[in-house]
Amino acid sequence: MKCVDDFRLRFGKRELVPIVVGGMGVDISTSTLALEAARLGGIGHLSDAMVKTVSDRRYETNFVSGKLKRYKFNVASSDKSAVLFDLNRLAEATHNHVGRTMEAKRGTGMVFVNCMEKLTMNAPRETLRVRLSAALDAGIDGITLSAGLHLGSFALIADHPRFRDAKLGIIVSSLRALQLFLRKNARLGRLPDYIIVEGPLAGGHLGFGIEDWAKYDLRTIVTEILQYLHAENLDIPLIPAGGIFTGSDAVFYLEIGAAAVQVATRFTATRECGLPDRIKQEYFKASEEDIVVNMISPTGYPMRMLKSSPAIGAGTRPNCEAYGYLLDSSGNCAYIAAYNREVAAHPGSKKISVMDKTCLCTAMRNFDCWTCGHNTYRLKDTTRRLPDGTYQLLGAEHVFRDYQFSTDQKIALPPLPGPAGKE
Ligand SMILES: Cc1cc2nc3c(=O)[nH]c(=O)nc-3n(C[C@H](O)[C@H](O)[C@H](O)COP(=O)(O)O)c2cc1C
Repeated sequence: MKCVDDFRLRFGKRELVPIVVGGMGVDISTSTLALEAARLGGIGHLSDAMVKTVSDRRYETNFVSGKLKRYKFNVASSDKSAVLFDLNRLAEATHNHVGRTMEAKRGTGMVFVNCMEKLTMNAPRETLRVRLSAALDAGIDGITLSAGLHLGSFALIADHPRFRDAKLGIIVSSLRALQLFLRKNARLGRLPDYIIVEGPLAGGHLGFGIEDWAKYDLRTIVTEILQYLHAENLDIPLIPAGGIFTGSDAVFYLEIGAAAVQVATRFTATRECGLPDRIKQEYFKASEEDIVVNMISPTGYPMRMLKSSPAIGAGTRPNCEAYGYLLDSSGNCAYIAAYNREVAAHPGSKKISVMDKTCLCTAMRNFDCWTCGHNTYRLKDTTRRLPDGTYQLLGAEHVFRDYQFSTDQKIALPPLPGPAGKE
């Protein structure tokens, strides 16, 4: 019986363990988690979402307070068009996060960064160019383009000296999205180095409609894209993602022609994951009914999360002067309109609730939006219950190796906690 370790992800002459730990913003896939995946011979992801906040928290910089100070005059205004990112500071923060991680990298694996196009940051093209270029400057091994079609993203960095040497990949949820991307980028003479195909069971935002996401399944989309690549003679590694919970699930995809798998949910239960420990316990406790796909993200994409997320219904005053990552090119965000509507409907009220949208920047900054994969309700089966009723956190190495070596749909429990066990 085969296990994941019987396969290798090949980039030219380079061989990796075919396990990719997916990007989880904001700082849920931490530098520590990404470095573990790389140390173990696979690929780990940073996320550059709200990178200034991440840099402040991790490296004691003060990017966020600096931005807020500069735009404080605008806090009461609902017109956020003036609230622009300082591109030099954005580059600095990205360089900080990526550069320090790359300096700490050990082992034979790689560290990539996940860049979401939907972080439009009040100047989509300019900010994305800076994010991508700064990550390349700081030595990132690869960039995964996500949350958007990214039709112009390669062109933004086509002049960068590392454009052809860094690994560049894209996340798609349909053949159509992939075809569009390939068509748009044909003139650059550079194919993506890998394609991540994300199905509807993934965590974070989904690349499907709210009405019909449940009608799709990863196996069908992967098969369709594999056939297309074969027919077009395109030798690009394909990496399925979304709902791959065991080593055997992964082997299924590797046997039908996938080059690796991307996984995330099981790593949310690890010590290396950036979620506060009390929230990891919420993930463990969740049952299937506690998980919902809703439209509260101002991006317009459906998002999966625990129903008990404090972000749902919170009436936070928009914090665009400090954050502002979801402002579109005219300085609008769907949350601002929803918030203003509720304020107008409840004059004089001190606390308001906004049900249809959330201030996602604030919520992600505070770990109040408990986004998760569909299989989160199975996390409790991957560990032990401790005498105090809590669940034992796992080591990223344990989870990685379980994916790598397990067979028969088995999931290895972690070593017992305490002096005897490493965990
Ligand atoms: C908590 C969490 C946060 C995520 N955040 C992002 C993100 O910021 N950007 C992104 O492209 N994908 C994000 N994802 C998707 C993962 O990178 C990955 O593709 C997917 O969740 C894999 O499926 P699995 O969780 O069932 O293993 C997130 C997933 C989780 C569980």
